[in-house]
Amino acid sequence: MNVPIVVAWGPLYLICELIPTQPDVLMEMLNTNSYDWEKQAIARKALAGILGNGLVNVEGAEHKAMRRLVAPSFSGHQIRQLAPLFYTKGQALAEAILRLTKGRDGEAVDPTDQFSRATLDIIGAAGVGMDFDTLEKNETILPKLYDSVIHAPFWFLLINGLFPTWFLGALKGTKIARILADQQRLRDEVRILMKRKKANMKEQDSTTTGKDIIASIMKAGDVSDDYLVNQMLTFLAAGHETTASALAWAILLLSRHPEIQGRLLVECDAQLGSTSASETDASIFDSEKMPFLAAVCNETLRLYPPAPITSRQNIVPTTLNGQLIPKGTLASLPLYSINRSEALWGSDATQFNPDRWLDGSNAAHGGAKSQFCFTSFLHGPRSCIGQSFARLEMKCILAALIMRLRFEPAEPDQKIELTGFLTIRPKNLRLKVHEIQETVSMEV
Ligand code: HEM
Repeated sequence: MNVPIVVAWGPLYLICELIPTQPDVLMEMLNTNSYDWEKQAIARKALAGILGNGLVNVEGAEHKAMRRLVAPSFSGHQIRQLAPLFYTKGQALAEAILRLTKGRDGEAVDPTDQFSRATLDIIGAAGVGMDFDTLEKNETILPKLYDSVIHAPFWFLLINGLFPTWFLGALKGTKIARILADQQRLRDEVRILMKRKKANMKEQDSTTTGKDIIASIMKAGDVSDDYLVNQMLTFLAAGHETTASALAWAILLLSRHPEIQGRLLVECDAQLGSTSASETDASIFDSEKMPFLAAVCNETLRLYPPAPITSRQNIVPTTLNGQLIPKGTLASLPLYSINRSEALWGSDATQFNPDRWLDGSNAAHGGAKSQFCFTSFLHGPRSCIGQSFARLEMKCILAALIMRLRFEPAEPDQKIELTGFLTIRPKNLRLKVHEIQETVSMEV
C-alpha cells in the first residue's frame, strides 16, 4: 500500500485496472479531476436495475444538474430537523428486536432484517413523505424485494452488467430471471408510490406540505414521471441498506467490546437521560456533546464501509500522480482496503479503536494524515450526498438501541465473516440481547 497506484491484470492479461491507494491520488481522481472519471459501464448497467437512473447512476452535465436540484434537501438545516424521526424509529427498532427475543429464553437472534426495515421506514418518511411501517407490518413487499435485488449474488451483477436485459429475461425459470422479475416488480411498486405521492401533493396545499426529498424535487421543477421514479428508486435503495449495514456492524462490534458498549451507554444516558423522542434535538448528538458516539460511528464506518468498493473509467486522457493515463483506463477503488491500510492508519489499522477519533494528533481524521484515508462516503462532487443524513441517523438509532438493549455475541470467539457485494453485512449475525431495566448513574 505504499505505492500510490497499483496496476492489476485480470485473467489472461485481458483486463488491466488501476487501483489507487494513496490520499493524493484519490484526491486527484475524486476531487480535482472528478468529472474525468465516470462509473464503469458494466457497473452502471448492473446498478440501473436496482437504483434506476437517478443521481447515483448519471454522469457529466446531467449529474451536475440533478445534484444541484437535490442538494437543498440535504442542507444541514433540513437534516437536523430529522433527529426526532431518527430517534423515534431507533426506539421502535429496539422494541422490534425485543419482540424477536420473546419466548426464546436467552437464545441468540439475528436482527439484520429489523435494521433494514427501520432504515427503510426512515427513508420512506424523509425521502418520499410516507411511513411504510415495515417494522410493524411484516408482510409488506418492499423489504422482501430490496433483499432480493440489493443482495443479489456477485455473479448475477456481473452477468447483468455484461448481457442485454431482454436476453437474460428469456432465461425462464432461472435465478437470473427471478431476480430480474423482482427488479421489475420493485420498479412497478415505486411507480405506484410515485402516483400516490403526486395525488397527495395535488390534494394538499403544496406550499405547506411535503418537506421530503421527492416533494422538494417536484416543487423545484417540472419533471417527468420517469424522472421521479428513478429518483425514488435511488433514494430508497441508497438511503437505507447502507445505514442498515453500518448499524449491523456497529452492534456486532459493540457486542464484542463490552467495555466500549458500557462507555457509550454512560455517554448516551448522560446526554439523553429520559428525553422523549419528541423533545430530541439534533444538537444533543453533536460531537461536542457526544464525542464517543461520533467516534464509535466513525470507527465502525472505517472498518466496515457499507459500500466496500467502487469503480471508475476515464472518459478523457488525464493524469494521476504526474503520470499520463490514456482515455478508457479502468480503475477500482478498494474502499474497504484503503480504510484498513496499515501504511495509512498504523499498525492497529484492523483493530476497533474508537479512541483514535478522540485523542492525539489528527484526531479529526482518526489519526490518519488526510481525510482521503477515510473513503466510506468517497469525496468530491460524487461523494455521498446523504452523508450528513446517514451520520445523524446512525447516531440517533445507535443511541436509542444502546439505552434500551445490551448486546452480547452468541459465541465470543466466532470469526467475523462478511457477505454481500454492493453493500456488506455480517454473515450469520447471532446476538444475545438483554433488556436494560434501569438507567445508569455513573459519571462520564
Ligand atoms: C452509512 C451510510 C452510507 C454510506 C456508507 C454511503 C456511501 C456512499 C458512497 C461510497 C457513495 C459513492 C458511490 C460511488 O460513486 O461509487 C454514495 C453515493 C450516494 N449516496 Fe450514499 N451512503 C450512505 C447513506 C446514504 C443515504 C442515507 C442516502 C440518502 C438519503 C444516500 C444517497 C446517496 C446518493 C444519492 C449517492 C450518489 C451521489 C452522487 O453521485 O452525486 N447515501 N454513498
